[in-house]
Amino acid sequence: MSKPSIVILTGAGISKESGLDTFRCAGGLWQQVSLEDVATPEGFQRNPALVHEFYNARRAQLRSPEIQPNEAHRALARLEQEFPGTVLLVTQNIDNLHERAGSQSLIHMHGELLKAECEACGAVLPWDGDLSEADVCPSCQGAGLLRPRVVWFGEMPLEMPRIFHALEQCDLFISVGTSGNVYPAAGFVDHVQRCGQGDTVELNLEPSEGASLFDEKRYGPATSIVPAFVEEILSGSYRL
Ligand code: APR
Repeated sequence: MSKPSIVILTGAGISKESGLDTFRCAGGLWQQVSLEDVATPEGFQRNPALVHEFYNARRAQLRSPEIQPNEAHRALARLEQEFPGTVLLVTQNIDNLHERAGSQSLIHMHGELLKAECEACGAVLPWDGDLSEADVCPSCQGAGLLRPRVVWFGEMPLEMPRIFHALEQCDLFISVGTSGNVYPAAGFVDHVQRCGQGDTVELNLEPSEGASLFDEKRYGPATSIVPAFVEEILSGSYRL
């Protein structure tokens, strides 16, 4: 008898109450800057300094002491630690709040803000500070070839075969704080429905684009609805 398994997808909404902007909500990042300029390979080709400025500002914000994991991040870490089966957390977020809350079984499918990648040798490096065209890759000594380790529009997200396999095997798929606008993540619920047997639950502030596809939906701030749902799973009142 295989152990029950849960796959969780998170988006920017889970980090909103920690003080990090979402992308598409009122006043969100894509209303502040053009995604074509800062989140596409073409934009990086055109103006790398503008792109570095954007991610350097986000990296500096993430390092500031005001930005801390919240109750929703902590509840998911608790689920991983206490659930008598497997839990895989797939995040679209590039912040490190899940790790800081204690999550370990974690995939950053869109990359990580605190890492850089060399376009010449492919090295992936921890990167805390500002990044610029003047920086040299410590691995191949190539200059001006380091980019944020972030998956941009038009690029393939990371670890997709492992994610799809887990979605096909899971008994429960939970989606937290994502608007369901960006594929392939927005297609995960449909993949579970078509290729898996798991239940599907949406936890969000408001209905996402894919809300109608979910078996169950709960709406409210992540810091209240996520801990409550985790408690239901761990206490057995939510049956898998
Ligand atoms: N609690 C729960 N959900 C929230 C909260 C909150 N406090 N605040 C906002 N939300 C919800 C919003 O209702 C919205 O549905 O979070 C969602 C955020 O949606 P987006 O801004 O579109 O962010 P996300 O879905 O993560 O974007 C996906 O798009 O821009 C790219 O690569 C980027 O990973 C990102 C991807």
